[in-house]
Amino acid sequence: MAKVTSVLLAAGQGTRMKSDLPKVLHPLCGKPMLAHALEAVRQASTEPPVVIVGHGAGQVQAFVGGAARCVLQEPQLGTGHAVMQAESLLRGEAEVVIVSYADMPLLGPDVFQRLVETQRHNPGPVSLMTVMADDPRGFGRIVRKADGTVEAIVEEVVATPEQAKIRELNVGAYCFSAEWLWDALHRIPQNPRKGEYYLTDTIALAVADGLPVQALVIENFVDAIGINTRVHLAEAEAEMRRRINRAHMLNGVTLIDPASTYIEAGVTIGRDTVIWPNTYLQGATSVGEGCKIGPNTIIRDCTVGDGCEVLAAVMEGAVLENHVDVGPFARLRKGAHLADGVHMGNFGEVKNSYLAPGVKMGHFSYIGDAAIGEETNIGAGTITCNYDGVRKHKTVIGREVFIGSDTMLVAPLTIGDGAHTGAGAVVTRDIPPDTLAVGVPARAIKKLEKRDND
Ligand code: UD1
Ligand code: MG
Repeated sequence: MAKVTSVLLAAGQGTRMKSDLPKVLHPLCGKPMLAHALEAVRQASTEPPVVIVGHGAGQVQAFVGGAARCVLQEPQLGTGHAVMQAESLLRGEAEVVIVSYADMPLLGPDVFQRLVETQRHNPGPVSLMTVMADDPRGFGRIVRKADGTVEAIVEEVVATPEQAKIRELNVGAYCFSAEWLWDALHRIPQNPRKGEYYLTDTIALAVADGLPVQALVIENFVDAIGINTRVHLAEAEAEMRRRINRAHMLNGVTLIDPASTYIEAGVTIGRDTVIWPNTYLQGATSVGEGCKIGPNTIIRDCTVGDGCEVLAAVMEGAVLENHVDVGPFARLRKGAHLADGVHMGNFGEVKNSYLAPGVKMGHFSYIGDAAIGEETNIGAGTITCNYDGVRKHKTVIGREVFIGSDTMLVAPLTIGDGAHTGAGAVVTRDIPPDTLAVGVPARAIKKLEKRDND
């Protein structure tokens, strides 16, 4: 099997985006458009892809990291010139080269695989993707000869009025025979209008060489949405969201209203989970089976187990084990870890804390930098006063503790197993196990009956 490598062009300025951020780093369903394009060509190649960087090279390269090899194009003299920059790196590496643009995030790996397949059966040096569309959107037009074979790609800026009417468009994905490509790039004429070297001119070069050019006509125009403006970005986002939602539904997830459900690429959801409207699942998030999530919920970078219920919550960097219920109006921040069966009711906030199985905090509490033992009850309005103005301190609460309503726990602090605090207590010193402490500041006033299971 022939080796296949790929070159993704990402050096252009993206002037039409009117942005300080390089165009290819604008996100789509949570990932830069470049990430989507890179993943697609990577799957269709046998060798690691090459990304041509230029405008905002530092930022783009930092994002790419180890996912691809980057080559600098400086100055940026057009798409043909861009591919030429990869010649010294790639010449001799593979027999087949995929070339595509990083601003087309909806072209999936399957269409690239079909393109490679088309080129495999082509005795000529290049196959390209085309699409029929009523709205040309500034794309290059495919000029065919009387016998139906492809003759050239004509860019809109240089098209004659007759050519401008052509409805078969250049998608912007090509598969070349490598040796032919590296030579042909040097033969691209400089475009008199802009002084650029257009990759699209390689098609006419193949035809002039008397070699056949193959076109893979794709059925779906939306696959070919190239992003040049923020209007295109929104169109592509809507289409990608639709695809992501559809895949989850086909996997057994109920979306009450897909149109108001925002699930980023890479999020996983178990079967029989129901997602209510206006819910955002973002970043590295996984949700287990049989959960009820939303409405009005944002979950980012969280792990949610099976059978959990989350209502009107904002969660980031948190872990919920199984059968945890949260909300309405709950806030979970980084490092919040709610074990099996934890109940966190309304208007609570948890940060960097472990709540052991069966902990209940029903109403209006802040728990930060704490560890809470099994079956402990946190009364309404309890606050861990974890910050003394300079440093954060830890609060350790044992198992089967009863924290009375409106208790202030002034950290650092350890509350023993089975201890109780009275309503309104301001606890500034440790409380031994099975002891009742009350008042401001709280004093231990009574040893409690030992708990049954001691
Ligand atoms: C290009 C095609 C057009 C096709 C359309 C599909 C050319 C000449 N035209 O036009 O036929 O229908 O895409 O979307 O190829 N880039 C570089 N270096 C450069 C110039 C551009 O890396 O010097 C990169 C850009 O970052 C971008 C891609 O190439 O990712 C395409 O450039 P863009 O300016 O968007 O070309 P289009 O006008 O869309
Ligand atoms: Mg473009």
